[in-house]
Amino acid sequence: MTTTLHPRPLRLCVNIDHVATIRNARGGDHPDPVRAAEIVAAAGGDGITAHLREDRRHIRDADLARIQEATDLPLNLEMAATREMLEIALRHRPHAACIVPERREERTTEGGLDAAGQHNSLAPIIDELKGAGIRVSLFIEADERQLDAALRLGAPVVEFHTGEYAHAFLDGDRDKIAREVKRITDMAALAAKNGIEPHAGHGLTYANVQPIAAIPQIAELNIGHFLIGEAVFVGLDHAIRRMRELMDEAR
Ligand code: PXP
Repeated sequence: MTTTLHPRPLRLCVNIDHVATIRNARGGDHPDPVRAAEIVAAAGGDGITAHLREDRRHIRDADLARIQEATDLPLNLEMAATREMLEIALRHRPHAACIVPERREERTTEGGLDAAGQHNSLAPIIDELKGAGIRVSLFIEADERQLDAALRLGAPVVEFHTGEYAHAFLDGDRDKIAREVKRITDMAALAAKNGIEPHAGHGLTYANVQPIAAIPQIAELNIGHFLIGEAVFVGLDHAIRRMRELMDEAR
């Protein structure tokens, strides 16, 4: 499927994994992540993000094709750098593939990808994805060593892991918040200077999105857990529109 990105200064891609988490809790087909994808499109979201985990705890293989059929929005497939996931990506040809570290026992993606330490195993996977016309992103910490590795690996995009920033926010640790914002700001500028498009995501909420949305080089935010949780109270459409307003306000 060919897709075009909206000419917006900051894109909001909605991670719909946790709609599938709720569905899987009962083993049936409700709530359907496809319906969530349709609502994302109607609410002005710029893309759908889904993480096909090795244990299929939320999104499943069959969901991917259904999501791609249901909406023209670009699909950003989050995947571990494994042969199995590469083959799935090559079959589905999402707009983008974001390579994430994955450990079975983790609750969510904790920490960024060690692009520097795993150069040799990542290189062929990145090359195959790029060869298939898939835009590759690496989910890394905002740190110069990892950014340099992304550059050497030829990744056109990096997504900075905002988990530490989100934790600092929860702890109300102002110094750490300031340090994290500076770190992400500096690395976003360095990425852009080197021709890499910086994205950001993880743990973003209404309360903490604006300092990250204000970083001028950041082109896309990937937000999931908060939006799906908030949707329980106000509906997914409303939650997305509110997040969009806050992002635009910060720009
Ligand atoms: N970006 C990446 C690469 C992720 O792995 C995740 C979590 O799956 C997110 C963004 C979204 O994080 P959250 O669900 O905390 O908004």
